Amino acid sequence: MCGIFAYLNYCVPRTRKEIFETLVKGLQRLEYRGYDSAGIAVDGPGKTTTDINGNTICLIKKKGKVKALDEELYKKDSLDLDEELGTHFGLAHTRWATHGEPSAINSHPHRSDKNNEFVVIHNGIITNYKELKEYLVIKGYEFESETDTEVIPKLVKYVYDNRENDGVGFSTLVERVIQQLEGAFALVFKSRHFPGEAVATRRGSPLLIGVRSEQELLTENIPIQYNSVQEKNSRNRSDSTNSINSVGDGSAVEYYFASDASAIIEHTKKVLYMEDDDIALVADGKLSIHRINRQAGEDPVRAIQTLQMELQQIMKGNFQSFMQKEIFEQPDSVVNTMRGRICFDSNTVVLGGLKDHLKEIKRCRRLMMIGCGTSFHAAVATRQILEELTEVPVMVELASDFLDRSTPVFRDDVCFFISQSGETADTLMALRYCKDHSALTVGITNTVGSSICRETDCGVHINAGPEIGVASTKAYTSQFVALVMFALMMSEDRLSLQTRRLEIINGLRMLSELINKVLGLDEKIKDIANEMYQNRSLLVMGRGFNYATCLEGALKIKEITYMHSEGILAGELKHGPLALIDKDMPVIMIIMRDGCYTKCQNALQQVTARSGRPIIICCQDDPEITKNAYQTIELPHIVDCLQGILSVIPLQLLSFHLAVLRGYDVDFPRNLAKSVTVE
Ligand code: AGP
Repeated sequence: MCGIFAYLNYCVPRTRKEIFETLVKGLQRLEYRGYDSAGIAVDGPGKTTTDINGNTICLIKKKGKVKALDEELYKKDSLDLDEELGTHFGLAHTRWATHGEPSAINSHPHRSDKNNEFVVIHNGIITNYKELKEYLVIKGYEFESETDTEVIPKLVKYVYDNRENDGVGFSTLVERVIQQLEGAFALVFKSRHFPGEAVATRRGSPLLIGVRSEQELLTENIPIQYNSVQEKNSRNRSDSTNSINSVGDGSAVEYYFASDASAIIEHTKKVLYMEDDDIALVADGKLSIHRINRQAGEDPVRAIQTLQMELQQIMKGNFQSFMQKEIFEQPDSVVNTMRGRICFDSNTVVLGGLKDHLKEIKRCRRLMMIGCGTSFHAAVATRQILEELTEVPVMVELASDFLDRSTPVFRDDVCFFISQSGETADTLMALRYCKDHSALTVGITNTVGSSICRETDCGVHINAGPEIGVASTKAYTSQFVALVMFALMMSEDRLSLQTRRLEIINGLRMLSELINKVLGLDEKIKDIANEMYQNRSLLVMGRGFNYATCLEGALKIKEITYMHSEGILAGELKHGPLALIDKDMPVIMIIMRDGCYTKCQNALQQVTARSGRPIIICCQDDPEITKNAYQTIELPHIVDCLQGILSVIPLQLLSFHLAVLRGYDVDFPRNLAKSVTVE
């Protein structure tokens, strides 16, 4: 949703210009999380008549993308760009509007008062902000924005102004404030009263802290996949010799606070993931962490971890957009999902993060696959093969609807939570709901350290690498592969299924090469996009193993091209959608040589009989299709249950080219954000 970045340099001299550059770079890395406005808070130009302790805080906020803010920064004549600041703390934020339109006044940082005594950046939603605001208004506080966030700095000032003694520290103030907040938040605070200090906290929204120091930091390399429950849980263990209560000995050090690791990686690989209700304080260059309402001697112990990510992974390279790069990464990303898990010599599959729970999973009453958007489509895509290989009923659920229905869940259910970001609010809420009903919970995520990854009992990291384009592409194909691997693992000891399993494992062996072949159709797909980019609508039709491709393809098209697009189950054609068909309605039909081939051909006849002129995604050299004069996109053949991985790629490419031709910013579709951390 929103992107948080903050930078503290302690005894490391930086010019104001360098600080601006660091803050702006951080925001650029997070811009995919929200991009309707942005802002920063930095120390002002020294003593003024209204100063407190000689400190001022300057807020610079701007509607639009980070680029607009960047330009604005250099217009502030009052700020000397060359002034060197030995110790300084700066906040930065890029917003995805929830409360109040995109505007400078609604953008973050928000402040306590006109003197900027306390300023804050926030990701998440404060659900009781109306009550808090009413209370603060009665107490005489004036609000300037329409946001939920603004109650937070006002509340800090209220607590500060009403403190009983002068010894209350910055983190104690924040601790008192967050006890009044309901909802989800990651927050970073800066104050004129506490120069050079930083306070950060979270509940339900991600936040991590990067540390760069000459000092030898204790490290614990967290593996990129769940290897076992014990290993997963060891991240939080409090007796770990590799864990810490505090960092820094007062010597030169830099701290980076961010919503995700992509904003930190170019500065340091040493990071600490904050847990819900942690409060981090940096004072005199030392970082310490405590929890709200802690008992004496009960400080938490958090591990400094080493990020596995490389800077190159979050750069566009020679591609026009992250989405395009990520589409073309798929030959590698699917291999990374399988790496170390499938042995093609022995035809065995071991998902380390699930193996200790396999017996329990095999005994379950049903499998529930829960997610949103593309992640939900990955569940739809694999449902049939999961049912076939596990012989257990599989329900696929949109997280929001699952919650709306208060779906009955039992302790012998196994619930999968599929999420690229691992932070999607609806999916996370559904996870907590299932935990409350004592079901076994399994995470399928792409983000190590994410909330879903931490809160599930066990899981699989899909290891697709960072996905930055708002339109999800490589995460989908990797989720698909991960779920197929799960089905294979579940059926390993079923003699009657061995031939089928071998066929699928062989398909997985060939997958990367075949994806490369599909990517080779890019020019042809660009030509097709050229013919249709001025249309207003586009239907995508198919059934069986390829129905999910229709849903996912249509989602990609509407998401980045703003064309109306619908994924239609071909079996439903005559129950309504056929009325849309005429010679002008663009239709893409997926007709592969699988169990639905004949039925799909019937649908084709029904479309052409109404003067429809479909473009057909079909198997290479399918004489039944190619003997006619249809326009085709011909794909290499693979086992039926993996065909959806190949058939979605032309639609990813098509949506990309359509968006470019229509003049839209592929990575920043309007009204959307990458990680949807609000319900
Ligand atoms: C996909 O292109 C979308 N941007 C969106 O549907 C996304 O898949 C959905 O918001 C779920 O996100 P998650 O996988 O991070 O949970």
